[in-house]
Amino acid sequence: MMGMVFTELLDMVEERYSLDLVDDVLAKAGVSGSYTSVGYYEDADLVGIVVALSEESNIAVPDLLHLFGTHLFSRFVTLYPTFFDPHESAPSFLEGLESHVHTEVRKLYANAHPPIFTFDANPDGTYALTYQSNRGLWQFAQGLLEACLKHYGQALTLASIEDQSEGAGTKVRFNLVPA
Ligand code: HEM
Repeated sequence: MMGMVFTELLDMVEERYSLDLVDDVLAKAGVSGSYTSVGYYEDADLVGIVVALSEESNIAVPDLLHLFGTHLFSRFVTLYPTFFDPHESAPSFLEGLESHVHTEVRKLYANAHPPIFTFDANPDGTYALTYQSNRGLWQFAQGLLEACLKHYGQALTLASIEDQSEGAGTKVRFNLVPA
């Protein structure tokens, strides 16, 4: 996973809690902690950090992933406004999440493997965003998605979540309905 995900996660821990907790979490996870935003690091390191953070903070891993997704969305908006500013609604942005945003990430960073998203507009005015990744970080995607819906004025809400991978969390559909 790209270093940017690590650095943003550790920044969030420092901001919400303390630098001491960052040090404790890194020590507990047994990782060096010297990440740069454009480097690449083992997914297992990220899992180790999140598990250690869960133990230190008493927040369950899925809740931490969700929290981190919400946090990262606001960072994306600050860091990459050009991805968001051209859009006036969540569907407009989400339609290009795969073809524009993550495809751009793949072009710029050869070793990055962002998840695959499909976005469907249904005739009844509802939408479905489907997440696919063998990392199974769907709660992280949910946090990003909910922050995205809020960013575009909450015209849509997340009505239900369907795991289409028999509980593996590797293919998950988010059903969106007008608020
Ligand atoms: C609603 C918006 C977004 C959602 C739901 C989303 C979802 C995700 C998820 C769940 C991952 C974790 C990897 C995985 O599960 O396989 C990821 C990775 C990533 N995303 Fe997004 N993302 C969003 C927007 C963006 C934006 C705006 C950028 C712009 C730079 C971005 C760049 C990345 C990068 C660099 C990675 C790391 C890929 C890697 O290291 O392999 N994402 N995204």
